[in-house]
Amino acid sequence: MPAAAERPFPSARPPGEPASPPERVAAGPLVLRRVHADDAGAIAVAVGASLDHLRPWMPWAIPEAADLRSQLVRVAEADELWESGTGFIYVMIATGGGRPEGPGAVKDPDGEFVGTIGLHRRLADETVEIGYWIVAARTRRGYATAAAQALTQVALALPGTRRAEIHCDEANTASAGIPRKLGYRLDRVEAHEREAPGERGRRMIWVWDPAEGPRATGGTAGRAARDGAR
Ligand SMILES: CC(C)(COP(=O)(O)OP(=O)(O)OC[C@H]1O[C@@H](n2cnc3c(N)ncnc32)[C@H](O)[C@@H]1OP(=O)(O)O)[C@@H](O)C(=O)NCCC(=O)NCCS
Repeated sequence: MPAAAERPFPSARPPGEPASPPERVAAGPLVLRRVHADDAGAIAVAVGASLDHLRPWMPWAIPEAADLRSQLVRVAEADELWESGTGFIYVMIATGGGRPEGPGAVKDPDGEFVGTIGLHRRLADETVEIGYWIVAARTRRGYATAAAQALTQVALALPGTRRAEIHCDEANTASAGIPRKLGYRLDRVEAHEREAPGERGRRMIWVWDPAEGPRATGGTAGRAARDGAR
């Protein structure tokens, strides 16, 4: 394959490939749905119940983020990103059928709101970065892994995209667990400005590049992801 600089940009793709990702994506126990103004209330409640959990890692996790109005603004920003083709934010809804209960439990027409996940497109280097957060009371159920697995394939189907990346601070063990479990490769660790109080200032860059072919260390989830079983 020629070096990136030698390839036409955007990279040649078969005709008919979507310019935007689907607005609804099945992801194992979840459905991922393009964020909409109707979701702002659920997000505000969930953020409010998860502030202590989010604060170390998410610079936006301040008390105002639990206000409906600020979430409506964020949804409007997400709409602009979606329409410009540079960012695609989804709500994660657990469809398991159980009744949402307990602090941070937020009902949704499709089940229960459990977090958000976004694709952030860097056209300059044909990369899509995936970012996520999960409601504090709903962690460790495989939700972030299932959602990131599904959106890795969605990202790679976008025209002009060559690889998916997940970035997280080295101190964020929980976040690093997702790309590790999916079989992403840790490409490098680089210094970065600390943006949230839990960060060490060293960012791990995890890469999923189909051109690299299967890797020996990829776990079951990684192989499934590579095979498109999402
Ligand atoms: C990071 C986060 C999204 C993980 O969500 P999650 O749904 O709990 O993750 P999963 O259940 O899919 O976990 C996948 C793997 O990651 C690792 N992991 C997850 N949480 C962990 C924790 N608290 N401690 C250590 N490892 C953890 C484990 O290896 C886990 O697999 P296992 O449960 O089979 O051992 C969630 O903790 C969160 O919202 N954190 C705050 C926001 C944030 O840091 N976002 C990312 C910014 S880069």
